Amino acid sequence: MTALTWGDLPAYPCYLGRGDQGHFTTIDQAQVSVMDRGFIFGDGVYEVCAVYDGKPFQFAQHMARLNRSLSELRMPNPYSSDQWQVLIEQLIATDSIAIDAYSIKANDRKGLKNALIYLQITRGVALRDHAMPKAIVPTVFMMRSPLPMPTSQARAQGVACITADDFRWQKAHIKSTSLLGAVLSRQLSVDEGAAETVMFRDGFLSEASSSNVWVVKNRTVIGVPKDHLVLEGIRYGLIEEMCKGCGIAFELRRISRDEVFAADELLLSSATKEVLAIAQLDGKPVGSGTPGEIYKKLYAAYQAAKIAA
Ligand code: PDD
Repeated sequence: MTALTWGDLPAYPCYLGRGDQGHFTTIDQAQVSVMDRGFIFGDGVYEVCAVYDGKPFQFAQHMARLNRSLSELRMPNPYSSDQWQVLIEQLIATDSIAIDAYSIKANDRKGLKNALIYLQITRGVALRDHAMPKAIVPTVFMMRSPLPMPTSQARAQGVACITADDFRWQKAHIKSTSLLGAVLSRQLSVDEGAAETVMFRDGFLSEASSSNVWVVKNRTVIGVPKDHLVLEGIRYGLIEEMCKGCGIAFELRRISRDEVFAADELLLSSATKEVLAIAQLDGKPVGSGTPGEIYKKLYAAYQAAKIAA
């Protein structure tokens, strides 16, 4: 991935709100209370949405998942989807704040039409008490930064991943800001110089630390069921649609560790990876050891979907 440096970050625009009241500012100016339950408990939810050519990709699907996560945490959504859309459009349009005030490098300006939107809603500010306070105003934070893309080498050669036990909690379907399980999991692959950690629960595939995992066998794309043990990535629906469009069989079912290691191809998917081929797992080649035919078809279909959106 192309790295965003901390040096650039303060200049990027963000939105900070309490309930339905908020304002646009820059990351270095935004402040929240240390008593925010997001800070104290990780009590919040988030979304990460790619923006292509100025438009949030799969926006309706992100909003639907945000509402599902919020309802699991018994939190209200301070905005309707239409209000979110307006706020996100404004955030995308606030180039002048970032460029004029801090003179962002010229090559970042070109990238402004492609961007990454991160948004989170925490339960709000309260005295520290595990119980959910009754009258509390949610804190909203949203930022826009450059879109990190897999390198051309990762696209051409695929990436190496490692495996680990899935030691996270049993509510992985909630896109919660409590991400310590994901942080610990991801660090295992960082330690090995690998791109992701592919996790197994009781010998069955779940997902990677911040991506979904897809097995390709005999020209069928197989994913794990959308249950509480994995996050339903926005690409679940998209990959199913793209498979349909490309005449590739698609199914969701439990997948054993042996099946993962016997795959013809393995793919990762996420907002930033789009679809990405895994070339090696625990040091062993996946299939031919290079990105396969199904990956190439899905990657091409993905690029077409971005243009058509
Ligand atoms: N991560 N599974 C997990 C645990 C994730 O954190 C993510 C996304 C995905 C893929 O979801 P989607 O297709 O909606 O991006 C699957 C984001 C990108 C993140 O936390 O930065």
